[in-house]
Amino acid sequence: MLVGAVTVLVGFLSRCSDRKADPADPRGSAFAEAASCARCHKSIYDAYATTAHAHSSAVASAGTVKGRFSAPDNIFHFAGRADVVMEQQGEELFQVLKSDGKEQGRFPFDVVFGSGRKAQTFLYWKGGQYFQLPVSWFVPADNWANSPGFPADHPKFDRLIPSTCFGCHSSMVKVREETKGITVTEQFARREMIGGIDCQRCHGPAAEHVAFHTENPAEKAARFITRIDTLNRVQRLDMCALCHSGLKPMYKPAFAFKPGDALSDFVIPTVPFRKKPDQLDVHGNQLQLLAASQCFLQSQTMNCSTCHNPHVTERTSMQTFSQRCMTCHQPGSPQFCKHTGKPKGVLQQNCIDCHMPALPSGAITLLTNGEQSPTPDSVRTHLIDVYADVVKKLP
Ligand code: HEC
Ligand code: HEC
Ligand code: HEC
Ligand code: HEC
Ligand code: HEC
Ligand code: HEC
Ligand code: HEC
Repeated sequence: MLVGAVTVLVGFLSRCSDRKADPADPRGSAFAEAASCARCHKSIYDAYATTAHAHSSAVASAGTVKGRFSAPDNIFHFAGRADVVMEQQGEELFQVLKSDGKEQGRFPFDVVFGSGRKAQTFLYWKGGQYFQLPVSWFVPADNWANSPGFPADHPKFDRLIPSTCFGCHSSMVKVREETKGITVTEQFARREMIGGIDCQRCHGPAAEHVAFHTENPAEKAARFITRIDTLNRVQRLDMCALCHSGLKPMYKPAFAFKPGDALSDFVIPTVPFRKKPDQLDVHGNQLQLLAASQCFLQSQTMNCSTCHNPHVTERTSMQTFSQRCMTCHQPGSPQFCKHTGKPKGVLQQNCIDCHMPALPSGAITLLTNGEQSPTPDSVRTHLIDVYADVVKKLP
């Protein structure tokens, strides 16, 4: 009995000392230091580092902000008399408010949201709070644009950004809640965050896993980590739906979610939770659109991983995605495409642009510099269907 107790104690101590080998993670002792995964999962780690998830947010710097800071490409004119000028001063970047050419104020870029795949928007910090800057970078236009939902006639500097934005776009943000009277205000420390979505956002806290496998290098079966293939379909969908089912009020912060958890324990039900597909839009409503598709309804198995490998960047490869369609819709079978307007070989190249076209978003529109009417961001719909009008317009 005594021997048993000693072994447990030694095991415990050696695990503690091993854990010290990795610098502490700011999320707490349940989390391994983010880069530690590279020691044993190098190929996944390296491939993942190039994905949009890995760069979904960052501390602002000349390296992470995509837009141009030199004249004449750095001025955004509002319909009124104000201009916002993007300036670099040493290491710092600013949006400078000018009216009739005179400087009225300068606001630092503190945090970047968006990998630069489509758009980046920026936050500045003041008095413990984050505010969105009025000018964003819009990739399809290769230009600065007014931030989505912001007025076109004057620059707005007072849109407060809550921690919920960080909950979908980052791996940690430090929040202190301050009570003033009856209202609770979130207080942030400037630039204190873990930018990007890291391994432990999807796989959960992994300090035990790292400690165990470091001590037991011969063990080939995963321990102290949720095995994704033991999860049911809803649990697998919820892992992605946490961030890909649109903006929603939550009981608990998204940061607390672990694989296997039920999203319904996090989200405050709203009526109607499931809107009609044609009323859905980005921000990130892939789940609801997919769930309304016949492929999803009739296959019983389809989930996000049926088509997406979350560890790699595949977004330009329509051929790769079409192969995944053909695992169910095999060429030559009655399940294959019924379209007769194109040869079979051509149909096999790109199912996507006909059945999941990129459609303009009603929710996200940006007014680019010098334009009178806003340009919608276009989003790949996840309502898999026949889009006869879209097909007619294709060459
Ligand atoms: C000391 C080695 C080691 C380190 C460090 C390590 N792992 Fe692992 N991990 C393993 C081994 C061994 C397996 C089982 C074989 C496999 O699936 O690759 C595994 C499997 C996994 C699995 C697969 C679970 C499944 O679905 O089968 C995940 C997820 C995982 N690790 C995540 C992580 C994360 C996240 C980190 C960093 C925080 C990490 N690992 C760090 C050794 C390690
Ligand atoms: C913590 C929140 C979060 C979780 C969990 C999450 N995503 Fe994302 N995802 C995002 C954000 C934010 C973006 C936008 C990244 C950007 O470009 O800035 C994104 C982008 C994507 C993209 C587009 C990337 C590209 O290269 O075109 C795909 C595909 C995607 N996610 C799939 C998934 C799948 C599949 C899962 C579940 C396995 C998942 N996501 C889980 C937040 C999340
Ligand atoms: C966006 C969510 C997401 C992120 C971020 C993510 N994973 Fe995964 N991971 C998954 C999903 C989903 C699966 C199951 C894949 C499947 O079944 O096709 C998986 C499977 C795995 C596996 C086991 C299967 C395999 O491919 O070997 C390992 C190991 C793993 N992940 C490690 C990592 C590491 C290391 C990182 C960070 C570099 C990471 N994951 C980041 C969602 C994610
Ligand atoms: C519920 C999760 C969620 C919340 C909350 C959220 N986002 Fe997002 N955001 C996403 C996802 C998912 C994407 C990828 C969108 C897509 O392609 O459908 C995205 C995309 C973006 C992009 C464009 C990045 C790109 O290149 O595609 C920006 C900028 C952005 N979000 C800013 C914000 C801001 C600012 C807030 C807070 C006001 C916020 N987001 C809150 C999930 C979220
Ligand atoms: C997991 C299996 C599976 C995958 C993968 C899959 N589908 Fe389906 N799909 C089905 C099933 C089952 C149906 C319903 C029966 C049928 O129409 O064949 C369906 C129906 C459809 C329909 C008819 C829709 C309607 O409303 O009548 C289209 C179009 C379609 N799929 C296209 C695609 C495309 C494009 C992809 C790849 C992006 C894809 N499917 C991937 C299983 C799948
Ligand atoms: C039947 C195949 C299929 C399934 C299932 C699927 N996707 Fe996609 N998804 C695609 C294709 C094809 C694209 C277009 C290529 C790209 O942009 O990555 C795409 C694009 C995306 C994008 C980028 C959209 C944009 O325009 O910004 C996100 C985000 C995404 N998927 C998330 C998800 C999530 C989350 C799930 C699960 C709820 C999911 N997908 C399920 C095929 C699929
Ligand atoms: C050039 C556009 C185009 C391409 C490429 C294409 N389809 Fe289709 N597909 C259509 C149209 C249009 C229809 C409706 C039948 C018609 O009117 O010709 C259709 C019908 C279908 C149907 C039957 C839907 C029903 O109503 O029963 C399925 C399933 C399908 N396609 C799957 C696929 C898959 C999988 C691929 C890729 C291997 C693919 N399609 C490639 C345009 C296309």
